[in-house]
Amino acid sequence: MELFLQDDTLITSKTDMRGKITYANEDFCYFGGFKEQKEFINKPHNLIRYESMPRVAFKLLWDTIGSGEEFFAFVCNRSMKGDTYWVFANVTPSYDTHGKIVGYYSVRRRASKAGVEALSTIYKKCLELESSQGMQAAQDYITEILKSHKQTWNELMISLQAQGEIGGYR
Ligand SMILES: Cc1cc2nc3c(=O)[nH]c(=O)nc-3n(C[C@H](O)[C@H](O)[C@H](O)COP(=O)(O)O)c2cc1C
Repeated sequence: MELFLQDDTLITSKTDMRGKITYANEDFCYFGGFKEQKEFINKPHNLIRYESMPRVAFKLLWDTIGSGEEFFAFVCNRSMKGDTYWVFANVTPSYDTHGKIVGYYSVRRRASKAGVEALSTIYKKCLELESSQGMQAAQDYITEILKSHKQTWNELMISLQAQGEIGGYR
């Protein structure tokens, strides 16, 4: 079954440097289908990974946040019960007082219909390319899309989310 976030839903989680969950809020538990914190605390974030998400999406995520930048993306996750839910995610590095990255933080909200439609198509093509030619082919495909839009990845994500401000995906 597909679950839908409300306008005011905020699904948040924090991770260590390797992506192990150190904190998550109530909406994270609800949509993830978790009953207790111990089901996810100190576990890798791929606990809620949905198999239709291409590997290249997570490569872009880790390359971006690892270099100290924030990352936006439409992501489809899978709950413990097998339900799926699309989110518009913003992932940021957390810094200590010396400017060293000490972990990461993700805030996810209701995804726009435009974003879900566009990324469903892009991710499907990426998955096909990954299985036929490998992840580099999927990354080249994304580079071409961004060139044709004359936008960076984050700019494209933000513009797709902005299209959903009125009458968005529910
Ligand atoms: C702060 C943060 C939040 C993340 N949130 C998600 C998420 O909601 N869903 C997801 O599938 N991966 C998320 N990831 C990425 C995972 O760490 C992982 O790269 C991804 O699930 C692919 O896992 P795999 O390479 O083991 O298949 C997040 C990573 C970080 C650092």
